[in-house]
Amino acid sequence: MTEGKVRFDPSDPQLKLDPYPLFKALREQDPVHFCDLGFWVATRYDDLRAVVMDRENFGQGDFIKNIQLFYGPDFDVLSHASYRWLSEIFLYQDPPRHTRVRGLVTQALTARRVAEMRPRVQAIADRLLDAVAADGQMEVIHQFAYKFPTLVMCDMLGLSSEEASDEVLSQLNQAIADAFVVFEMRAFPDDVLALADRQIEFLEDFFGKVFAARRHNPQDDLATGLVNARDETGPLSDHEMATVAIGLFGAGFETTAHMIGNGLLALHSYPDQWAKLVANPALAASATEEILRYESSLIGSNRTAFCDVVLGGKTIKAGERILTLLAAGNRDPAVFEDPDRFDIERKGPRHLSFGGGIHFCVGAELARLEGEIALTTLASRFPSLNVDISSARWRQEGFMFRGLTDLKASW
Ligand code: HEM
Repeated sequence: MTEGKVRFDPSDPQLKLDPYPLFKALREQDPVHFCDLGFWVATRYDDLRAVVMDRENFGQGDFIKNIQLFYGPDFDVLSHASYRWLSEIFLYQDPPRHTRVRGLVTQALTARRVAEMRPRVQAIADRLLDAVAADGQMEVIHQFAYKFPTLVMCDMLGLSSEEASDEVLSQLNQAIADAFVVFEMRAFPDDVLALADRQIEFLEDFFGKVFAARRHNPQDDLATGLVNARDETGPLSDHEMATVAIGLFGAGFETTAHMIGNGLLALHSYPDQWAKLVANPALAASATEEILRYESSLIGSNRTAFCDVVLGGKTIKAGERILTLLAAGNRDPAVFEDPDRFDIERKGPRHLSFGGGIHFCVGAELARLEGEIALTTLASRFPSLNVDISSARWRQEGFMFRGLTDLKASW
């Protein structure tokens, strides 16, 4: 491929199987690429960091215009509950609105609260593995990877077993999956959007009741923390709290589930790495970092240029969008030695998988804790774990999440 020939097409099925050859070609031939869909795509580590750290020149911009780019100017964005919700989550806001809500959330989601969760996260991992241990096999994604972060998020928010019965949990998971499609920036058919709208209304109603209950009966949990958080402008409104809760639940669900699935696949595609982890489960924390670098479950993020900005020799004009392919930066040989090698003892620069700057992932510590506990527990309970690599199926819908729909393991 020569300069200008390399093309980025998020619907290319090959990208779902293995996006890294295209990421390499983009990095080498057109690192700040203007794609046919009308937005820019960045792939080099330094450019990606420059964009996510730069709050003066890049931000989320005008939400309505960003969505109308895909549907056309007559599309009534805010008449859809799902887009209304998306427009209100702090990830899609710029300061000062972003600063206020993020500040109130981090008052409640403190490092201490995450550290205190360790024994309970361990108990959740043990309970899920107890349920399958005698079977000698499991389908990793549905029997473990999806259930684990859902139960952890319920524990963190403080949902009681009545509030989060098995039936409610599967409804919540389905609702999050149906509603979160709008996270992907593209146009959706009417029926998909109508389902996303209904599911957001269901979730707003569900979390609204949880916060109302905590207001009357405070607990030591994140839901009560959100009810009590306040700054000089006052507390979060009930609507803001429900918006935040759906955002946290959703942001921490597929990302973490796929981190576990992608990680087990990588560890067994390089059996020497699994053997190292089994011999020394204390490597689980650095293995989690390498999984996040090597096979990130979230491919990238989006920004809008506030003014004309030169990046990698190209001028991004005010109002234009840029897709930051963080996963491509994680394999940049200018930063990572032998970047396509999976090495759970890797030292050196940080991956970009949690983003950076003012939108740096607020759940990073929790995700790291979950990764570490999932890996230590699997390696110590099932040292002979055999992952059937041929059973791995990459999800086909969407582009932003990279994860498996099936992965079989036995012991
Ligand atoms: C492997 C797991 C995870 C990955 C790879 C991940 C990745 C990311 C990335 C890349 C961003 C920045 C997006 C941007 O700059 O546009 C982000 C933001 C965010 N993440 Fe995560 N995340 C993970 C887990 C979690 C968890 C467990 C939670 C909740 C407890 C969470 C909550 C959030 C929130 C609320 C934001 C928005 C922050 C802001 O806009 O200020 N994430 N995440």
